[in-house]
Amino acid sequence: MSRGVFITFEGGDGSGKTTQAERLEAWFAGQGRTVVRTREPGGTDVGVEVREIVLHHRGDIAPRAEALLYAADRAHHVATLVRPALERGDVVIQDRYIDSSVAYQGAGRVLDPEEVRRISEWATEGLRPDLTVLLDLDADAARGRLDRARTRYDRLEAEASEFHDRVRAAYLELADAEPGRFLVVDASLPVDEIADVIRERVANLV
Ligand code: TYD
Repeated sequence: MSRGVFITFEGGDGSGKTTQAERLEAWFAGQGRTVVRTREPGGTDVGVEVREIVLHHRGDIAPRAEALLYAADRAHHVATLVRPALERGDVVIQDRYIDSSVAYQGAGRVLDPEEVRRISEWATEGLRPDLTVLLDLDADAARGRLDRARTRYDRLEAEASEFHDRVRAAYLELADAEPGRFLVVDASLPVDEIADVIRERVANLV
């Protein structure tokens, strides 16, 4: 049996994570691997309920409460879905993980990013991705894509572009600090080119 592989996708809203996750899933399936595609928040039944609160609750949520909600979603997701899949030897391709919390909740400037990380590390008993693909995109380009794609914004998507600039900078710092785990790809490149770069790196993992 092959060893489980845990790959996460990170990046701003509209950076193309879903498209690339689909491509990678198809590639792994072609290699005969069983793939679990999942996401945070909302990868489980409990998570769907948490997702509804964090993304669509009307009115403010205290920053610490918000960070704990994401961590609660993550704790349940890792315990009931991600770890069991990795233990079976499956490939887990996941849209967003701890780096999202550090970048987004940290970018609100109220919480210390290191504290945000520690909460999630406790929640997940320290589960780390084998690879994290950061699809890096300038905040204005991302907004342009979202505007063309749909009309309903969630709470975070509606934040000012200054917030999204801070999220992007936070992601790039995380990637700089852990070059062994991260692959940073320019998300403005053509879809096929991005998929090629990701596959090349993944081929060295498996
Ligand atoms: P989602 O709808 O899953 O992805 P996207 O908008 O990229 O299609 O993203 C939900 C939002 O949740 C996104 O704006 C980022 C935010 N988020 C956090 O703030 N913290 C977290 O820990 C996670 C997982 C997501």
